[in-house]
Amino acid sequence: MKEILIKSNEEISTQIIIQGGLTGGLNNYIDDLQNSKKFFLITNTKIAKLYKNLIYKFANDRIFIVKDGEKYKNFKTFEKILNFLLSKKIERSNTIVALGGGVVGDLAGFAASTVLRGVNLIQIPTTLLAMCDSSVGGKTGINSNYGKNLIGTFYNASKVLIDTDFINTLSDYEYKCGLGEAIKYAFIEKSCKNSEYYDLIEYFTRNQRDDVKYDIANTIEKCLKLKANVVMLDRKEGGLRKILNFGHTYAHPIETLSNYRKISHGEAVAYGMRFASKLSKDTGLIDEEYYKKIIFLLDKFELATGKIKYKPDEIIDLMSQDKKVQKNKINLLLPTAPAVVGLFDNINRPSLEASML
Ligand code: NAD
Ligand code: GLY
Repeated sequence: MKEILIKSNEEISTQIIIQGGLTGGLNNYIDDLQNSKKFFLITNTKIAKLYKNLIYKFANDRIFIVKDGEKYKNFKTFEKILNFLLSKKIERSNTIVALGGGVVGDLAGFAASTVLRGVNLIQIPTTLLAMCDSSVGGKTGINSNYGKNLIGTFYNASKVLIDTDFINTLSDYEYKCGLGEAIKYAFIEKSCKNSEYYDLIEYFTRNQRDDVKYDIANTIEKCLKLKANVVMLDRKEGGLRKILNFGHTYAHPIETLSNYRKISHGEAVAYGMRFASKLSKDTGLIDEEYYKKIIFLLDKFELATGKIKYKPDEIIDLMSQDKKVQKNKINLLLPTAPAVVGLFDNINRPSLEASML
């Protein structure tokens, strides 16, 4: 078992536990939780079916099951969750448990942060992407017609319980998308202040997919330690935390254009990392050798290998609606050296376009 503690200030702290063994550790935690206070579980249809032996521990009338998919991360589902919690007379002392990937985590986190002005939140991530990124750091939210994650809060879970056995039932595609988010940490590692250096670029270059899977708890731990350091220094993304959005300026418009159906977040981020790296190479921020290394890794793990069907123009137009726009300028994170990224707001439209061709 591995444990990480994130402490942003006296009031905000998150205990992260990483372990395997669905029938062991996690069950014991759930028993402990159930004995102490009233819990509401939020999960989705797929997980409820796959893990019925786990969720039967929660009383039926305290489980809310969301439809599966990014397209349900919206106002309607959020409203349904709140109505459910209020109809069950949720109290301030109660806890919401999010059992699922990033979609369930973001929705349940948003509900936990708003219902009764905030109740305790526990995240139990079930996708690799949620384990190595989204369940930690307190970002919650929903999508709207205006774009991705434009509505939400910063609200930290008190506990994140990571059971790596959940990975065994992930589709190949979802596993790959999670790896994409883990590999993102390789490309930003040296920009994560105050952190130990793990040389994830070298790690992912040396290891094959199956080796990485075998060693996944260590990889998740490294990603989360990097994230924890960044979040502790800049919880609300005033500056440093922006580095965690590497690839996202391209990714959010791509997800919006795919109607939150065809291209998942992890794959869209992988496209974003490809495009941003090309832009860096074309503008001389990085040399050909490092660019080839980035592309080699993305190819090796089969991330965003197909040609994207959306036009650069459409993507750029949507970029200007993103949260990352400041003073009408598109903010882009670009690689500037191995494992280092920098923030730029002076990239012209033709260069942006060329990066996606
Ligand atoms: P997801 O939650 O949609 O899960 C992907 C698919 O895997 C879904 O079909 C889901 O039902 C299925 N699934 C989940 N666990 C499974 C399991 N153990 N076995 C089999 N299938 C399983 O997507 P995701 O990739 O986990 O998360 C993407 C979302 O996370 C996006 O909405 C993105 O915006 C958000 N996100 C948030 C943050 C944050 O900091 N809050 C960070 C990154 C991404
Ligand atoms: N995934 C980006 C962040 O948590 O800030």
